[in-house]
Amino acid sequence: MSPSSPMPPDGSPARPLLDDAQTALLAERLLRLAGRAGAASPAVAALLGDVVATLRALEQAGRLDQANALAAAAKSLRTATRDLDLARARIFVGLGDPLAAKEALKEELRYFPDNEPARAMLAALEAGLPREVPELDPDLTAILPVIRPYTMVGLPRLASLFFLAKRACQRDIPGDFAECGVAAGGTSALLAYAIKRYSQRPRRLYCFDTFSGMPDPSPEDQHAGLDANATGWGAGTCAAPEASLREVCRRLGVEDAIVPVAGLFKDTLPVAAPSISGLALLHMDGDWYESTRDILVNLYDLVAPNALIQVDDYGYWEGCDQALAEFFAARGERMALRCIPGGVGAVLSKPARKGPGA
Ligand SMILES: C[S@@+](CC[C@H](N)C(=O)[O-])C[C@H]1O[C@@H](n2cnc3c(N)ncnc32)[C@H](O)[C@@H]1O
Repeated sequence: MSPSSPMPPDGSPARPLLDDAQTALLAERLLRLAGRAGAASPAVAALLGDVVATLRALEQAGRLDQANALAAAAKSLRTATRDLDLARARIFVGLGDPLAAKEALKEELRYFPDNEPARAMLAALEAGLPREVPELDPDLTAILPVIRPYTMVGLPRLASLFFLAKRACQRDIPGDFAECGVAAGGTSALLAYAIKRYSQRPRRLYCFDTFSGMPDPSPEDQHAGLDANATGWGAGTCAAPEASLREVCRRLGVEDAIVPVAGLFKDTLPVAAPSISGLALLHMDGDWYESTRDILVNLYDLVAPNALIQVDDYGYWEGCDQALAEFFAARGERMALRCIPGGVGAVLSKPARKGPGA
């Protein structure tokens, strides 16, 4: 990833506003560049700097849908660009989605921690957001201030994941833990902490991710009728380097429990699976149809009887729901699933014995 030039400060001469066709052409150009190997170059970095300024102009002109599409195309280049996620955050606010804005700002600050306008906007959004409640395990409460800046996962799903991890350790279910979809490492750190705090046997947490952001979505990947790339959370988003995972785990003193595995699930899981003797817990957080399918195909049979699997995206990304339904239908097995309070995410139970209708 290569940093590029910053957004001009407010008050600088306004950039000539691109019309609709020019904006669409620019987005197409970025998407074509993203499809080429070795797209990262000083010229691309400079182009992205210009795109950031264009996004600001579009946002100020109230052309938020076009700005959103252009920002998604820029993210698909997977090149850390100062102010790009800040621009996305402003667009999300304009579109009435402060939660998404908050996550975009966290992404900006992962790569550009000195970006004070982004930090100030995040603080302002956090001050204005309603408090998330549930009654929490005191051990989770204690680590939350450390993990929250490193996770996109909301409190109900964090609470559920912590409960599942603690349960697996207290019931002494055999096997390691695996997380597919790590991003900045917040939920990995939570799981590694649970291992260190409660496990009665040695175990490790496998952390699978590209460590360079979301791969390209497929047509199944939609939310509320929008293609994934049009939601503002498409290819190249959720990016964080492996160093971020290591950093949050180090802060909790649990770095020795993790095994990071970088690459696409379809490449890494088949190679890693034979060396994993079993899984006491699986956290699936890969969002997309193909990602969910690849996790299930490669890891489901490793999950121990009576163990639990948390699916972060169930009920949100339609491709994730479809991959789950297809996987269980093809095996002739019932999908034993309960939704997590809060409307997104679910917990799957692995039956005690495998078999039709089990
Ligand atoms: C929503 S984020 C994970 C959020 C994280 N659990 C947290 O605590 O914030 C999804 C992650 O899955 C990864 N991912 C999705 N599909 C993948 C695939 N097929 N191979 C590797 N990584 C993938 C992305 O790189 C991204 O970091």
